[in-house]
Amino acid sequence: MSGIYIHIPFCRKACIYCDFHFSTQLDYKGKMVDAICREIELRKEYLKGEPIGSIYFGGGTPSVLSLTELEQILNAIRKIHSVEPGAEITLEANPDDLDIQKLTELKQACINRLSIGIQSFHEDELKWMNRSHTAEQSVASVKNAKELGFDNITIDLIYGSKFQDMDSWKYNLQKAFDLDVQHISAYNLTIEEKTVLGTLLKKGKEPSVNDEFSNQCFDWLISESRKHGFIQYEISNFGKKDLFAVHNSNYWKGITYLGLGPSAHSFDGETRQWNSANNQLYMDAIAKDTISGEKENLSIQNRYNEYILTRLRTIWGVDADYIRKTFGETFLDSFLQKSSEYIQSGDLFVSGPVYALTDKGKAFADKISSEFFEE
Ligand SMILES: C[S@@+](CC[C@H](N)C(=O)[O-])C[C@H]1O[C@@H](n2cnc3c(N)ncnc32)[C@H](O)[C@@H]1O
Repeated sequence: MSGIYIHIPFCRKACIYCDFHFSTQLDYKGKMVDAICREIELRKEYLKGEPIGSIYFGGGTPSVLSLTELEQILNAIRKIHSVEPGAEITLEANPDDLDIQKLTELKQACINRLSIGIQSFHEDELKWMNRSHTAEQSVASVKNAKELGFDNITIDLIYGSKFQDMDSWKYNLQKAFDLDVQHISAYNLTIEEKTVLGTLLKKGKEPSVNDEFSNQCFDWLISESRKHGFIQYEISNFGKKDLFAVHNSNYWKGITYLGLGPSAHSFDGETRQWNSANNQLYMDAIAKDTISGEKENLSIQNRYNEYILTRLRTIWGVDADYIRKTFGETFLDSFLQKSSEYIQSGDLFVSGPVYALTDKGKAFADKISSEFFEE
């Protein structure tokens, strides 16, 4: 089964840390929705008729879409693709959009998983981030969603900002546990160059992230989420049993997906392609029945490196049998040779053919996987 990702490139406000593609001009939102629907038709062959097991509205802020716009996109997808009856349909939402009426409309549109961007339960931190909502609205949005019958809710949190100490991070996490959501995504703050935060850092007006503090937050996150019944199935993702994100898990398992909308990425098993991260260029190309973007053929090294990078971040780990079958003995020998150092240091553990990171190794996941990369 394949997945479909739809990038909705609009936000009401720009968060100071965000490097995702979006515009705060919402006046041509309807035209963008028309363009996305046209892209669905233009790229109808991409998934070769595979049934669809997950649909993900990401952004930007997809909760800025009206019910009509959401249904327009979903109907266009259903006209072309065969969407499985139990398919996971996720929508990323900001708490300030989620009043009772909006939540009722989202139910009507068959959204069955909500990803709510909460980030923090501290007002001063939310203001600093330039978020468009208060902590009170965040709590209300989850409570209202639950009351309306949403039973698959995930919330996003960020740790490691200058506003946090261990107590404030513990408070944020406890609030999340108290809300009794099914899933939490918790990200270490990264300061990207082309963001407001990146500019302020360069001017010396903001401190860089303190890695030692971030690691302490991460350790606490791992141990407390475990105590509260969450399974860390990916470095930043914690789900209750049987409630892991289907769509995101499929990315990590190398399953094919079609990405629609500006900046969206697609993967067909052998190539990766990505649409232009410019709303006007994207829409102009669609108006001429073409797609503006780039494509990369993945070499065997690229595919191996991606496999290591994504799988070491997950609970499923790296499978030595899969490496042998898919990439060959040379890749396997190199993997086995390099892995012994990390097994000895207590960063990796082995279970049958599977190699996975220990809690100690998880804090250095990307660094460790880069050591395995092949040129
Ligand atoms: C596209 S955004 C979410 C959409 C939604 N509009 C929102 O703002 O909550 C996806 C998530 O990535 C995380 N994120 C984005 N930029 C980040 C950064 N620089 N550092 C850490 N987490 C980040 C945030 O938790 C955010 O909720």
